[in-house]
Amino acid sequence: METQTSTMNQKNPTKAQDATELLIADHNIVSGLFTEFEKSKSNAEKKQLVSKICIELTVHAQIEEEIFYPAVKLALKDKELVPEARVEHQSLDALIKQVKGIEPDGEIFDAKIMVMYEYVKHHVKEEQEKMFPKAKATSLNMHELGSKLAERKAALLAG
Ligand SMILES: [Fe+2]
Ligand SMILES: [Fe+2]
Repeated sequence: METQTSTMNQKNPTKAQDATELLIADHNIVSGLFTEFEKSKSNAEKKQLVSKICIELTVHAQIEEEIFYPAVKLALKDKELVPEARVEHQSLDALIKQVKGIEPDGEIFDAKIMVMYEYVKHHVKEEQEKMFPKAKATSLNMHELGSKLAERKAALLAG
């Protein structure tokens, strides 16, 4: 058997992940759901996708706010990236409240989801291009943080 050093991507979700890898994997899941929403023609399917999007975003934001952001803020002595990210979460939360459990009833509903997607894309870009690289350059233990994030995420999804 040939060893494939080029395929380092870990598909196994139970395997310990670095904090930023775990968060990026979450970002990719949400992007995929939004893309499915864009293609969807059925209201029942849209409703199901929005329900998944809301859960994913809420749990993701919560683990970042409880575990990742405080660690990053401290390590970077940050007064900008983390506060801005928290405000962006609040804006997203306001949109989530407007669509959660609502019947997809036409173009305004769809518009809310697309605006949400735009916010998410902007927020993800800020995290992945600014916050995560800076965090990785500190002495933060990304493995330990990753385990804490995974544990908390599992608990929130179970509850
Ligand atoms: Fe994130
Ligand atoms: Fe975030």
